[in-house]
Amino acid sequence: MTTTAVRLTQYASGGGCACKIPPGELEDVVRGLTGATGPDLLVGLDDGDDAAVVRVDNGMAVVATADFFTPVVDDAYDWGRIAAANALSDVYAMGGRPVVAVNLVGWPRDLLPKELLREVLRGGADVGREAGCFVAGGHSIDDPEPKYGMAVTGIADPERLLRNDAAVAGLPISLTKPLGVGVLNNRHKATGERFENAIASMTALNRDASEAALAAGATAATDVTGFGLLGHLFKMMRASGTTAVVDAAAVPYLDGAREALRDGYVSGGTRRNLDWVRPHLSSAVSEDELLLLADAQTSGGLLVVGEVPGAPVVGEVVSRRKAAVEVR
Ligand code: CO
Ligand code: CO
Repeated sequence: MTTTAVRLTQYASGGGCACKIPPGELEDVVRGLTGATGPDLLVGLDDGDDAAVVRVDNGMAVVATADFFTPVVDDAYDWGRIAAANALSDVYAMGGRPVVAVNLVGWPRDLLPKELLREVLRGGADVGREAGCFVAGGHSIDDPEPKYGMAVTGIADPERLLRNDAAVAGLPISLTKPLGVGVLNNRHKATGERFENAIASMTALNRDASEAALAAGATAATDVTGFGLLGHLFKMMRASGTTAVVDAAAVPYLDGAREALRDGYVSGGTRRNLDWVRPHLSSAVSEDELLLLADAQTSGGLLVVGEVPGAPVVGEVVSRRKAAVEVR
């Protein structure tokens, strides 16, 4: 078997962040579980933030996160880059700067050549270099299904974090990458068609978006990943006690996303996202539009409460109403 003939997505039962455990299910599992707590745990489990943040000496905060998933694209190098950009993103989503990452690898040694694994790791290393983050070592296991990601440690100013619980009524909501990689990845997995625009979007770092959000004085943000825009927005509004009004027509999509939806490439994860948010949703748009808004993203952009230069405003935060998310 030559390495170029391998279609990595065929070794994945789920796909990317769409293989996440459904949001409601995960909340049931962790409810009531508490580890060590204290004033130095600045961001913990409570609000479903992107990373844990702990205050350490010298007025610094350490940001810790891990993310890994099964192949979302067939190409090993691209998958490595996407997984790394996605793992680093949770540090950026907290307003931090990644400093060191370690690889997390599951690899079917008997099924797939180790040259392919090398390509995956090369992708991760290249994105780490671009981010100015050391990638050193890690952990690997023999696994019937390939998995790759990183545990990332970053640093942040504890007074300037981007949290889930800090949204304030009266501010706009900005989105720094278009949506649609979920349906496009799903189509890629089914047909082998390659979507360069989706790969470019997923491999792009959220570093500049994070820096721009902090520079604009933002205090609330999250990245849009497996729970989709609606899911992540709901979590932020719930944590902040506010409502988001989304202007569906202002939300940008990658070329091909609407066609992929029309042709039926909606993942089970996306449908679960919408089911989960629906009781907290009031909508004036079609079911198809809601599915696009709930599309499970991999390495999506930042959803920032505030204005980010260059990023479209997709809605606004208002005082809490009956529904946590309103779509118009
Ligand atoms: Co995240
Ligand atoms: Co994550």
